[in-house]
Amino acid sequence: MHHDVSQLPPLPPPTPPFMVRDRFTISADLFPLGAEYNGVVESAHFVADDRWDTYLAHKLNMLEQASGRASLHLDDDPAGLAEAYWRVAGLLAADEPTLAVMLDDGVMLPRLGLRLRADSPGARIEPEVIVEHPGPMGDRAAAWLEGRSGVARLADAIALACQEDLVIMRGGADGPDVAESLQVCLPSGWDPREKFGTGFRAIHEPIADNARLLGSSANVMKALLTKGPYIRYSWSVTLHDKLDGHPELPRATLTEEEWADPETVAARTFIRMERQTTCPMPDLGRGLFTIRVHVDPLVERMERQPGLRPRLANLIASTAPEVREYKGIARLAPPLLVWLGAHQGMGEAAGDGEAVAPGSEASQ
Ligand code: HEM
Repeated sequence: MHHDVSQLPPLPPPTPPFMVRDRFTISADLFPLGAEYNGVVESAHFVADDRWDTYLAHKLNMLEQASGRASLHLDDDPAGLAEAYWRVAGLLAADEPTLAVMLDDGVMLPRLGLRLRADSPGARIEPEVIVEHPGPMGDRAAAWLEGRSGVARLADAIALACQEDLVIMRGGADGPDVAESLQVCLPSGWDPREKFGTGFRAIHEPIADNARLLGSSANVMKALLTKGPYIRYSWSVTLHDKLDGHPELPRATLTEEEWADPETVAARTFIRMERQTTCPMPDLGRGLFTIRVHVDPLVERMERQPGLRPRLANLIASTAPEVREYKGIARLAPPLLVWLGAHQGMGEAAGDGEAVAPGSEASQ
């Protein structure tokens, strides 16, 4: 096999997603994977683009500096959890063959230039890391992984090969569900440590207007663990462009003068989208939840996709005050609405815009 990194084809430019509906309420909004949303056929759990190296660098930095808040794994069933991660590797290989290739005794991670060898039950949990093609990032990743033990090594290796963050949820037929494993280097304003080892209800407790979402917890978890695969999207507007939106980061803000000018506010705003997917593993009593974050300067994205202007205006306008507060967009919302309105007649904003209506929804 030829997996020299320099011989791999270049990855395409990013295709940041958008919401399916133009009215925003807190709801599960799970859509079947394998259908078209916003003109894009969404069938993959993993989507790689030409920012892969940047994501890798951020993930590696995060692991090296603070793995205790980014890579968290319950240790009561390492063999079961490892099997779940091998399945994740298989999904990655199916979606992005230049990121992972399954082998009889492990997996090749071509863009990292690394191979994981798992030729014994012990190595299924803690695979051997082999540098196939030396390179600066691959060598650094290998050094990190060699210092990791148990299933954390496997989880970190798979996470370093892709741009997504990963959560493994575990749950029985009627038993409680638990976030068994979090490999989350790029959270949007939350601390993975606070969610680790807790269930769907507790994880989603801080959300404003969450009664319906929490009320459907059992159904949503059943969907994640046994149905699907599904896709959902999440959005925000922020004053920072950090891929890692950990809550301890210093908050960017504007001066009073800047706040008073919608053009300036828009020019300093980033649109932060998440593309999330689920994949059931019922035989393992587990389900995968992937999170892929995209951060783009607002003005640039609206210029590239002008059809999104009225739709973003509708999203912001329809977000209830307490939800704006929760999302941290209360102060941004009014000037952005002015800016978005000023750039395109709001009259066109009604309806679904260019959204392609989804098929059936899983819940809500
Ligand atoms: C398919 C299952 C899931 C559904 C339907 C769901 C739904 C939601 C919704 C509606 C929100 C509010 C923001 C938004 O609209 O996007 C949210 C936020 C969030 N979700 Fe989920 N979620 C799911 C799975 C998970 C899992 C497995 C985790 C594991 C860590 C998670 C972690 C979070 C966090 C951390 C937040 C932000 C909460 C905070 O501000 O503290 N979600 N989710």
